[in-house]
Amino acid sequence: MSLSSSPSLQRVVVISGAGVSAESGLKTFRGDDGLWEGHRVEEVATPAAWAADPARVLRFYNERREQVRAARPNAAHRALAELEQGYHVDIVTQNVDDLHERAGSSRVLHLHGEIMLARSTIDAGCLIPLGDRDISLGDTCPLGGQLRPHVVWFGEEVPAMAAAAELVSQAGILLCVGTSLQVYPAASLVFLAPDEARRIVVDPHIPEVVPRTIFECLARPASEGVPLIVEELLRQGADK
Ligand code: OAD
Repeated sequence: MSLSSSPSLQRVVVISGAGVSAESGLKTFRGDDGLWEGHRVEEVATPAAWAADPARVLRFYNERREQVRAARPNAAHRALAELEQGYHVDIVTQNVDDLHERAGSSRVLHLHGEIMLARSTIDAGCLIPLGDRDISLGDTCPLGGQLRPHVVWFGEEVPAMAAAAELVSQAGILLCVGTSLQVYPAASLVFLAPDEARRIVVDPHIPEVVPRTIFECLARPASEGVPLIVEELLRQGADK
């Protein structure tokens, strides 16, 4: 059994957003121009967009997937993986990239899906790893249903929400990294930690909704702030 699976370790829950992958070259969603890679989200990330022009939606996500493949985990992803040496770490990410996994984190819950998987439009249980493939119109599941990206679009359910809420409610330490906390229900998770939990936010622009009285705020990029916090936590853990 590895150290990280020991039930006696203190539980850290990390809520991560696009900011943790920004320094890996993946754009955040709410940049200055209000566009996501040149698109309004309703043109590419809604069931209506899919109904209107599935080829365009597939093209958009194929391009995003290509960027994810080319990206590498940064110092923040790597530090969070290293934290497992002293803590039971669960990562609840809004990101659809796989950079936490590629950095070595072993428990990653994707709230908004995973871009490296395709899902059948007629059989939600049918998930297909894409590897180096794209999705094209005409690509189907064994039952004949068109494949789509396994991502949550605006207006769709967030099936992993209950599991995420359960994890946060057991956190001894809650660490939020690189999320504007503007998208619900994900944003509501930060308020579910137990009263006694230590709460930390790392983001160069601390979101307004973060209550400064109960969160320690580190206004730094993830690649600087997260290794600092991880180093401190591992030192504290070792001193105990
Ligand atoms: P946003 O783009 O809304 O917020 C990104 C956050 O990252 C902001 O608070 C930035 O200040 C911060 N940030 C930028 N650079 C950073 C860096 N180097 N280090 C740390 N933080 C940095 O992204 P999310 O909050 O993840 O959903 O967005 C949530 C959801 O909205 C996404 O999962 C996506 C989107 O629409 C769906 O697609 C369903």
